[in-house]
Amino acid sequence: MDDIVITNGALEALNLCLAAVTRAGDAVVVESPTFYAALQSLERMGLQAIEVPTHPREGIDLAALEAAIVRHRPKACWLMTTFQNPLGSLMPEAKKKALVALTTGHGVALIEDDVYAELYFGDQRPLPAKAFDTEGLVLHCGSFSKSLAPGYRIGWAAPGRFTRAVARHKLTSTLSASAPAQLALALYLERGGFDKHLRKLRAALMAQQAAFAQAVGHYFPAGTRATRPEGGYFLWVELPEGCDALHIHRQALAQGISVAPGPIFSASHAFTNCLRLNYGHAWSARTEQALATLGQIVAAA
Ligand SMILES: Cc1ncc(COP(=O)(O)O)c(C=O)c1O
Repeated sequence: MDDIVITNGALEALNLCLAAVTRAGDAVVVESPTFYAALQSLERMGLQAIEVPTHPREGIDLAALEAAIVRHRPKACWLMTTFQNPLGSLMPEAKKKALVALTTGHGVALIEDDVYAELYFGDQRPLPAKAFDTEGLVLHCGSFSKSLAPGYRIGWAAPGRFTRAVARHKLTSTLSASAPAQLALALYLERGGFDKHLRKLRAALMAQQAAFAQAVGHYFPAGTRATRPEGGYFLWVELPEGCDALHIHRQALAQGISVAPGPIFSASHAFTNCLRLNYGHAWSARTEQALATLGQIVAAA
């Protein structure tokens, strides 16, 4: 209990951890591409985003990360090691271990955003980088938002040696997470069949991913490439060179189809020919029609 701070969702946990380890003006490493809320948090707190390339299957490039640490002397790295948003990458265990050795060796805090880890398609939950933390320099953040429902707004941070600082920031910013919501979740965890729910959810997401991937292959123009993550609910789609994802996003929205355009996942607005698709909704004829329409919009672009 003493090692964990309960928060209003993972986003608050991440922001509190960031506040505990940085001051305005500091550099913070993020992945490229990364979850746009990380970029927004950094901007709001006057922090400098250092973007480091990340591999669609294996996560951040450790050689590039080391070079960035040496060059920019960041106070923290904010990374997603398991089912990264938007790529869906899963860093292998040995690489997670090497990552912690690298950041710890340089005395850099590693803020680990682990919200999708329960949505794995393999045999077991991938270990977080936190599992290899011996010095208390990994600040692990999670929530029930992706595994149960976002509306409870219950998350947590396990901030290692920064626990007191994070708890103090929590106390002075939002005091505490909602007690009734925590009690409801505690009761559910005790008696509600969370494991059964997760098993069903994972099977559903896996089937939905297969259906989406097949539809992208069928309806999108030649030259399109898509990831096949081992968990989570995002497909990252790279469109043929020259396609303008922002234009496609607007055209799709006009037809009631929502996709996330690549440039929102980078401070330098890169990934102009990429889209993130969300396969979290149940597959239906309507979804298939939407992907067919999207394929036509992309072909026209
Ligand atoms: C990678 C990532 N981290 C954090 C969050 C926020 O989680 P929560 O709803 O628990 O605040 C999200 C939600 O979209 C996310 O995708």
